[in-house]
Amino acid sequence: MKNVLITGGAGFIGSNFIRYLLEQDLDVCIFNLDLLTYAGSLENLTDLPDSDRHHFIKGDICDRELVDKIFTENFISLVVHFAAESHVDRSILGPEEFIRTNIQGTFSLLEAVRKHWQDSNNEIRQDVHFHHISTDEVYGSLAPEEAAFSELTPVAPNSPYAASKAASDHLVRAYYHTYGLPVTITNCSNNYGPNQFPEKLIPLIIINAWEGKPLPIYGDGQQIRDWLYVEDHCRAIWSVIQKGKQGEIYNVGGNNQPTNLEIVNQICSVLDMKLPESQHTPHFELVQHVKDRPGHDRRYAMNIQKIKNDLDWEPAVSLEEGLQKTVTWYLNHPDWIEKIRKQQDYQSWVKNNYQGRDQQ
Ligand code: NAD
Ligand code: TYD
Repeated sequence: MKNVLITGGAGFIGSNFIRYLLEQDLDVCIFNLDLLTYAGSLENLTDLPDSDRHHFIKGDICDRELVDKIFTENFISLVVHFAAESHVDRSILGPEEFIRTNIQGTFSLLEAVRKHWQDSNNEIRQDVHFHHISTDEVYGSLAPEEAAFSELTPVAPNSPYAASKAASDHLVRAYYHTYGLPVTITNCSNNYGPNQFPEKLIPLIIINAWEGKPLPIYGDGQQIRDWLYVEDHCRAIWSVIQKGKQGEIYNVGGNNQPTNLEIVNQICSVLDMKLPESQHTPHFELVQHVKDRPGHDRRYAMNIQKIKNDLDWEPAVSLEEGLQKTVTWYLNHPDWIEKIRKQQDYQSWVKNNYQGRDQQ
C-alpha cells in the first residue's frame, strides 16, 4: 500500500480526488493536509468509502516542522499537491495570500520532499513522486481563432492567481532539473462538479438561479472557458501519476468552448426542466450584465493530444451530462450550501466582490 500525502484535500478538487481514489479501491492510504481556509471543509469528506484509509491533518503547507513530521512518521512516497488559493477575483482584491500559499507554500513543500527523498533509504527513495496540480491560466489568454494551449506554449499569466501558479510550476520544474526530484505537473482547464465553492461561476449561477437572484455576468459574457467535469480531472491526475514521464507537463481539458453566456443558458435550461413549477422559470431571464473583471482573460482552450496519445486519457463526461449531474448535486445538498452561506467570510466576500459592479 502506498502512503500518499494530499494537500488541500478538503477543497473542491482535492476532496473529489480522495473520493475517487477510495471509490476505485486503489491501494493507497491517504494523509490529507489542509488548513481549512474559507474554501476547505470537512463537510466535503463525509461518507467517504473505506474512510479508515483517510487521515485528516489540519495544518499549513508552509509549516515545515509539521510537514517534516508527517513525512518521517508516515513513510510518504507520493505527494499530490492541490492546496492553493484558487479564485481569480479574490487574487485581484487581495493578492498577498496567493503569494504566500501558492509560491512560498509550494517552495516549502518541495524543500520538505527533497529532504525526505535525499535522506531516505533506497527502497523509499525510488518510490518518491511529487505531483503538482496547476491550471491553464498560466498560459494567458487566446484570441478567438488562435490555436489551443499546448505544453510548449510560453507562460504568460495575467492575474495574480495565474502568476502565482506559474511561479509554483517553475519551482517544481526547477526541482526536477536541478535536483532530479521525481515530479510531474498537470495544467488543467476550468473544473466543475460536486463540492465546488459557490464563488466560482457554475455553482454561483445554479444557487442564484434556484433562488431567483440576479445572475451576474461580467462584461459581455462572451469569454470562453474549456470546462471539464471534476471526476475526469481526477482520472487524468491518476493516469499521470501512474504512467506519466518524470519531469513532464500534461495539459488536461474538456474539449469544450462555450461562452459564459452559453454555459449560463445551459444551466438555466437544466433548472427549467428540473424545477418546472418554480416561479423563477425561465431562469435565464435573471441574467444581469455587470462591470467586468479587470484584466479578464478572453479565452482558454487546451490541446490535450499529449495526454491522449501518451496516456490514453480523454474526457468521458460530456458538458451536458456533467451539468445535469452538477445541478442535481446542488439541488440535493441545501444543507451544504446553507453552511457555507452562514460563514461571515462568505457574506463579506459577496458584498466586496459584487457591490461595486453596477448593472451594465
Ligand atoms: P479550492 O479553493 O476549492 O481548495 C483549496 C484547498 O486548499 C482548500 O481546502 C484550502 O483549505 C486548502 N488550503 C489553502 N491554503 C492552504 C495552506 N496554506 N495549507 C494547507 N491547505 C491550504 O481549490 P480547487 O478548486 O479545489 O483547486 C485545487 C487545485 O487545483 C489548486 O491548486 C488550483 O490552482 C488547481 N486548479 C483548479 C481548477 C478549478 O477550476 N477549480 C482548474 C485547474 C487547476
Ligand atoms: P471562475 O469560475 O471565477 O473561473 P476562472 O476565472 O478561473 O475562469 O469564472 C469563470 C468565468 O465566469 C470567467 O470568465 C469569469 C466569469 N464570471 C462571471 O461572469 N460572473 C461571476 O460572477 C463569476 C464568479 C465569474
